[in-house]
Amino acid sequence: MPGEVSAAVVNPVAYGDWEPLHEQLAWARANAPLAVAENPDHDPFWLVTRHADIMAISRDPQRFANGIRPTVLTNRDGEALARAATPNNDGHLIRSLVQMDAPDHMKYRLLTQSWFMPKNLKIVEDRIRLIARETVDRMLEAGGETDFARDVAAHYPLRVIMDILGVPPEDEPRMLMLTQQLFGSTDPELNRNKVEITSAEQAIAMLHYVIADFETYFRELTADRRTNPREDIATVIANAMVGGEQIPDRELAGYYMIIATAGHDTTSASTAGAIMELAKNPALFERFRDAGTDKAGLIEEAIRWTTPVQHFMRSAREDVEIGGQTIREGDWLMLNYVSGNRDEAVFADPFAFDPDRDKNQQIAFGFGAHVCLGQHLARMEMRIMMEELLPRLKRLELAGEPARVESVFVGGLKRLPIRFEAA
Ligand code: HEM
Repeated sequence: MPGEVSAAVVNPVAYGDWEPLHEQLAWARANAPLAVAENPDHDPFWLVTRHADIMAISRDPQRFANGIRPTVLTNRDGEALARAATPNNDGHLIRSLVQMDAPDHMKYRLLTQSWFMPKNLKIVEDRIRLIARETVDRMLEAGGETDFARDVAAHYPLRVIMDILGVPPEDEPRMLMLTQQLFGSTDPELNRNKVEITSAEQAIAMLHYVIADFETYFRELTADRRTNPREDIATVIANAMVGGEQIPDRELAGYYMIIATAGHDTTSASTAGAIMELAKNPALFERFRDAGTDKAGLIEEAIRWTTPVQHFMRSAREDVEIGGQTIREGDWLMLNYVSGNRDEAVFADPFAFDPDRDKNQQIAFGFGAHVCLGQHLARMEMRIMMEELLPRLKRLELAGEPARVESVFVGGLKRLPIRFEAA
């Protein structure tokens, strides 16, 4: 892989202003779709840019594991420090579903999977609609301009997931702050100490405090739900048994953290992305404002367009031939969803925002055994927000320059200034 492409895919700043990155990824798809990226600070890894290769690797968890190496890009020093700081030197500061392989993965996933299926989600639809309506009321009361990403989109999915999890509203600001510190750890505007990151030690030390805060919080929640069970996911997790035993502390904290964190920055990013495209295109806005217009195509396209989870890593358990290359046992691979979702072989005119795509095969939720547990919830939240917000607006336009988070992992808009007129 050419040095500049290798350097771009590991650089948080490149994801903050991603047009040039898109050009580099398009070049890779055409010329070196599965090639080794080498950088001074990272172990070499295979950069996987084509949709078909991302699918093939994701559907083969036997040979491409999550548990062996970091599941998110980590530099060499960071991985060494994380290994030194974790039980069995596994390097996972958090052990959640994402870091597990068979047989643990399925045992743990099944504990909550039914909660997130469309049938069960119908039960929470009215509650979600109430949260969406309150969010829209607040936005409209505040007047004709807002930073939609910061003041609206960041709060709505957080309130939904906290409600489902069982975290009371007064603790939400703390959860939002901790999540932003976790996912935005490389962004000086979002990380815990609001500083430029200059070393792996500094990043890991900061993350340790963030994780410790999460753990303290969820330890108290567990104790409460073991004595006062309720109809929420915290009760399911706190009282779950795996192999006849209560879940060990590390996996318990990991479970809460993945549910609490995976579902809000991501869904806010795709919600804000949908609003940005509507604000730029009055005809599209008119069309979807109509209460009778089906929103499914808009939502699927906004998810493809924004691709909030920008990558996950896998590690080869054995030698594998794929895409004409031989991956060796122990090799590390970056599934670059940003690239997969602009793959010309799958999406006609991939750089056009088109809610009318026939069969949108976006891969933003991943694929296979680890496919996003919350995908139906994410779609439902976005649909309800569009249904509640758009008919109440007469006009919608951009009021300034949007800005993206500088992060290699979870990205999206951190600022979206809009001007609107209530209907
Ligand atoms: C896993 C994306 C919303 C919970 C994942 C994965 C991706 C992803 C790419 C990894 C898939 C793979 O490795 O193949 C997204 C996006 C979202 C979103 C783009 C919003 C637009 C949510 C929500 C929840 C959630 C609302 C709520 C609970 C999870 C969990 C996993 C996961 C628990 C781990 C599943 C496993 O390893 O078995 N998500 N997600 N996500 N997501 Fe989401």
